[in-house]
Amino acid sequence: MMAGIVLDHYDDTDRNALADAMEVMASAFDPAFGEAWTLPQLAGVMTMPGTWLTIARLDAAPLGFALVRSVLDECELLLLAVTPLWRGRGIGVTLLQDSLSQARRRGIISMNLEVRSTNTAIRLYERCGFEYVHRRPGYYRGNDGNLHDALSFRIDMTG
Ligand SMILES: CC(C)(COP(=O)(O)OP(=O)(O)OC[C@H]1O[C@@H](n2cnc3c(N)ncnc32)[C@H](O)[C@@H]1OP(=O)(O)O)[C@@H](O)C(=O)NCCC(=O)NCCS
Repeated sequence: MMAGIVLDHYDDTDRNALADAMEVMASAFDPAFGEAWTLPQLAGVMTMPGTWLTIARLDAAPLGFALVRSVLDECELLLLAVTPLWRGRGIGVTLLQDSLSQARRRGIISMNLEVRSTNTAIRLYERCGFEYVHRRPGYYRGNDGNLHDALSFRIDMTG
């Protein structure tokens, strides 16, 4: 992991943590693809039991985050984002690997995710062991009204 990066975990609604995640969200997602969430969406999912937010910080400044929701022994990676200026330094892979180890610690046996079919993050997911499951046509709607397919991926963590 990059020197000085700290990962903070939040299981419950923490207004400052939500604001930090929204700061990353605003810079990380291209509005052309309709992948970013609003603050009410993020706050809403954080009230659900089994959801956790991980924020990567450098000197307290938020640089990236991961959001995972679990139900019983399965979970879903809902969002993974790193602020553009800090990409390509391993923060994304660190957040993803940490999400997997947090999930294992909680007794979770699989993680699912949906990703836009043209998102470069797919390479990151595959490198971490995720396998393609199926395609969901028109899953994301961009700000221009165009629809984008999603691919669903899954990792089995029992092995
Ligand atoms: C996907 C994302 C979280 C990856 O974050 P990251 O910190 O750049 O990830 P890493 O540095 O661990 O690895 C990213 C890969 O991109 C490469 N890369 C290098 N420079 C890069 C740059 N400026 N921007 C993006 N990727 C870069 C890395 O070398 C690495 O490639 P590899 O897998 O072939 O080794 C980030 O690009 C992002 O926030 N994207 C927008 C949000 C998004 O689409 N999230 C996924 C769906 S929820």
